[in-house]
Amino acid sequence: MPTHRPLPTPPRVGVRIIGTGSALPARVVTNDDIASIVQTTDEWIYQRTGIRQRHVCEQAKGEGNLDLCIRSLRTALESARLRADELDLIICGTISQDLRCPSTACMVAGALGAGRAAAWDLGAACSGFVYGLNVAHDLIRGGNYRRIGVIGADTVSALVDYTNRGTCILFGDAAGAVVLTATDDPTKGCLAQANHANGSAWPDLFMPGDEAMVTEEYDRASVRPMCLQMNGKAVFKFAVGTFQELIAETLEKAGLTADQVDLFVCHQSNARILEAARERFGIPPEKLYINIDRVGNTSAGSVPLCYDELVRAGRVREGMTVMFVAFGAGLTWTSSLWQM
Ligand code: UT7
Repeated sequence: MPTHRPLPTPPRVGVRIIGTGSALPARVVTNDDIASIVQTTDEWIYQRTGIRQRHVCEQAKGEGNLDLCIRSLRTALESARLRADELDLIICGTISQDLRCPSTACMVAGALGAGRAAAWDLGAACSGFVYGLNVAHDLIRGGNYRRIGVIGADTVSALVDYTNRGTCILFGDAAGAVVLTATDDPTKGCLAQANHANGSAWPDLFMPGDEAMVTEEYDRASVRPMCLQMNGKAVFKFAVGTFQELIAETLEKAGLTADQVDLFVCHQSNARILEAARERFGIPPEKLYINIDRVGNTSAGSVPLCYDELVRAGRVREGMTVMFVAFGAGLTWTSSLWQM
């Protein structure tokens, strides 16, 4: 019989979010601006989505995804009082990288002077930040990493066809970031998480590289390559149901009820989807943050932008229970329930 030496018991490590940051382009595009390009109205967009305006990068001036990522992580590091070279890893959730190679995370690491920190991008569309938050949390809990920067950023304005009113009304550009650190207090960190995908539903929201990749539910002649295609109705239906199941699943895993959660920080895809979840769980408005009216759907930037705004408004305090929730292309959906 072989004799095995018992593995050493890993130290019980907690995880804390010690810094946040976000970045929005200066240029604001209102619903009236969109209505001057495609056949729509401010009233229609606001009633169907809750959006009044969005911030959009000025690509002609060289403003893009990388700038927003750098600005958001720099601010998060400043608020955490850390230097970039004190990070072990940078994860960037994004689908709108300025360059296909190298990863945006590597370029951010280079720009901020992160030394030899590992760096990679995580492609899960609007779920990218929350997926990344869960991965980073578990890496720290596992004991191999102590400090990780997680960015969620998208500049979907560069991927949108501004003749397609089904998509161009929705999206804006933004980035947000958090800095996580290991702590001796094991009660701090993620209490429960859920990460899912349904790969068979990818044609509901995707970006074809060329015409041959356009699936049969879309009108090929009207599809622009490298622009986002969305079956809005299907995604809406998926989102309303999944969003609520996700909250229920996460609460059940943690053994908590919705009223025990202090804040819900949710992907801002459509105010009607958020409102349906709020009603189902009886969540008071002040506990479910909404900024979609000011920024639109900013994909992976959405959740960390909301969280940074809440932190800066003094609405997040030590000991609070906060649930992050997101869903998007893939289709993907994910949650992370934290004890702050
Ligand atoms: O970030 C994650 C992924 N994205 C989402 O979560 C988005 C999910 N989907 C949605 O938010 C909604 O489906 C949209 C906002 C995109 C569309 O709203 P809807 O209530 O589902 O509208 P619809 O597609 O059912 O269209 C209703 C009507 C149609 O006219 P008819 O057939 O009733 O005459 C459309 O042609 O509204 C028309 N329509 C518009 N009218 C004015 C569609 N888009 C527009 C528009 N302006 N922009």
